[in-house]
Amino acid sequence: MNMNNLNINNWIIKHNLETLDYYSESETIFAQANGYFGTRGTLEEGCSQEIEGTFVNAFYDTEEIVYGEAAYGYAKNRQTQLLVPNSKTIYISIDGEVLDVEKSIIENHSRELDLKTGIINRSLKWRTNTGKEVLINTERLISMEYENLMAINLSLKPLNFSGEINIKSGIKRDKLNDIDENDPRVSGELKYSLNIYDKYCEKDLIIAKSKTNNSNLGLITSIINKVDNVIDREIEKSDESTDNNIYESINIKVVENEVCNLTKYCYYYFDKQDRLENEIDHKIKDFRELCKNNYGYYKESQEKYYNKFWENSDIVIDGDNEIQAAIRFNIFHLIQSVGKNGKTNIAAKGLTGDGYEGHYFWDTETYVIPHFIYTNPDIAKKLLEYRYSILSKAKDRAKEMSYKGALYPWRTICGEESSAYYPAGTAQIHINADIMYSIKKYYEVTEDLEFMISKGFEMLLETSRFYADYSDYIEGRGYCINGVTGPDEYCALVNNNTYTNMMVRYQLKFLVDFIESLKANDKKLYNDILSKFNVKIKEIKLFEDIYKNMYIHYDEEKGLIGQDDAFLNKKVWDFKNTPKENYPLLLNYHPMVIYKHQVIKQADLILSMLLIPENFTYEEKKANFDYYEKVTTHDSSLSECIHGIIANELGYEDMSYKFFENTVKTDLYDLHNNVKNGVHIASMAGSWQCIVFGFGGMRQIDGVLHFNPRLCDKFNKIEFKIRFKGRVIKVSIERDKTDYQLVSGKNITIVNNGEVIELVKLF
Ligand code: BGC
Repeated sequence: MNMNNLNINNWIIKHNLETLDYYSESETIFAQANGYFGTRGTLEEGCSQEIEGTFVNAFYDTEEIVYGEAAYGYAKNRQTQLLVPNSKTIYISIDGEVLDVEKSIIENHSRELDLKTGIINRSLKWRTNTGKEVLINTERLISMEYENLMAINLSLKPLNFSGEINIKSGIKRDKLNDIDENDPRVSGELKYSLNIYDKYCEKDLIIAKSKTNNSNLGLITSIINKVDNVIDREIEKSDESTDNNIYESINIKVVENEVCNLTKYCYYYFDKQDRLENEIDHKIKDFRELCKNNYGYYKESQEKYYNKFWENSDIVIDGDNEIQAAIRFNIFHLIQSVGKNGKTNIAAKGLTGDGYEGHYFWDTETYVIPHFIYTNPDIAKKLLEYRYSILSKAKDRAKEMSYKGALYPWRTICGEESSAYYPAGTAQIHINADIMYSIKKYYEVTEDLEFMISKGFEMLLETSRFYADYSDYIEGRGYCINGVTGPDEYCALVNNNTYTNMMVRYQLKFLVDFIESLKANDKKLYNDILSKFNVKIKEIKLFEDIYKNMYIHYDEEKGLIGQDDAFLNKKVWDFKNTPKENYPLLLNYHPMVIYKHQVIKQADLILSMLLIPENFTYEEKKANFDYYEKVTTHDSSLSECIHGIIANELGYEDMSYKFFENTVKTDLYDLHNNVKNGVHIASMAGSWQCIVFGFGGMRQIDGVLHFNPRLCDKFNKIEFKIRFKGRVIKVSIERDKTDYQLVSGKNITIVNNGEVIELVKLF
């Protein structure tokens, strides 16, 4: 899609609203969030094309999944992130005529999103039917520092009159209005959507209370309107049988050519229903405190937060302005969407839309966490703490599946498995190893032993226990992991998916090595931890035996590694005769048609080449990449970034650039035609990986950073910063040279193109 009413320039995304073309897509682009809650970029007064959505991270309800034919152990309940009451709503009217962007006479209507502050600034000139003209400006922010708060500043400047303007500002209940039953990537509606069961006003504060039907969660939504020049104000409510809204209608006095301001403060807070009632007074007090600061205070606090954030996280690209803006836009959405409190995570669509029902997937560990580990390790830690918080559910799940240890859910919010289609859900048991992989990287980058001892070890041990029990020793082969699905969802329930086997092998070695290092360095801790988790030497030996004898399927005749035991013996998909409109295949072919062919949805074996590069020789990478790339559709947005990185390593410059460009522009240019349902968080993070792991060629092997930079000729220079073991390293890559600057921290050794170099602090 070419959203030609968007003008993208460096830090600013400008949207010309004179036409409402691609309006619902732009709502996703202009979504704002802070990890606790987020809201789509809809207009304060709404419009008929909108897909309204405000979401609170992990505020969800459940409903029983009704199977036509159920079987033992299927996921029992859906979990769906709910649409919460919309507190943005502000209607403006003059002499009874209400501003309506589709009907009113409007000029110069545009808005800008500033990636340096996360603030949206919108302006327009409105002429009423009776000729009264007013300049309207709104600024909106969701505070990064105060997680419950959104602030909207509305200013009105009458140009040719003095008199009265009416503002109706309140809390509105919206319904999901973009449900496509045929697209599994889009959310369906729960039978009971969230309702407001109580709403009232306490002096200048309006509060609406909602509760879920089954998940025992309650939410308060509250607003305070602060306005200059009030003539009178009153509360208007509609009841539950209609739309269940609550507004404050305020008449204000305006003077020609003078600006009159309204600041609307909006507050969201949720907790378990039983706890919430006792917390309300305290929360209201907290909200009132926040409202004592004016809008400017929050604007400044955003500037401060983002200044610091960009200091660590910016990527500078010299040579292509579009790509420069796109990478910043992607990084911006990652920091906006990520849960930062250890109890929540980052959903596949962030907080920008209802796609994938607000679920957390392996997207977090495999795509998003690397970005945070190397730029904001504290946030990476919080994401891993979330996994720890659901470990007991993962243990229950393993038990239910008749295995020892813990099996993490494929998709979830509360920790229970929520995937109704197990062949592409629960069967992806690689999720355990994906999480453990990022724990290993996190530990190596931060050396946070405390985390390992208090949380990481237990997760590592329990998920390893699951794998030890799940894998089967087959004579003549070794340990096999059969009947699983790898990352490629176009092959299901296969034997020995190489990605899975390699990742499990890697994890078990990590566990054994970690135990060995404890034994060598802290005998007491070693003894304590083994006894706490009842680990016997026999069990450690078993883990060792498995990783040393893990089966990997090589096809000697073809000179290739099998994606699994059967893949290379299937018929190749007829790509030549598949019309373009039949992609993505998952929307047009029954799984049985897809599964019996050599056709791949997304990076699978190729992903192992990135994650565990030491497993492959250069020749193996090349031979397998050349083969597998040709049978890959990239129907998942998680695919091209990984292919781009490996293509770069193999010297396929054009191909690598194309994959990178498609990744970095996925959302801003709506390349998958579904941005209206939310951004693609994994591919946004994948675009960061394309820069750092692709053009920068960075790999972390055995705790050491290796770089093999290779810049394509589209760019003159790329610069980024990496945090590593308490250091900050700035990397500047040009086509013929790379500079590494130790910005802070002690001297450190890295490897550049195979050569060991020491980075020394100069000043
Ligand atoms: C991909 C999965 C991914 C999910 C959520 C699917 O299309 O195949 O790998 O986890 O989307 O992003």
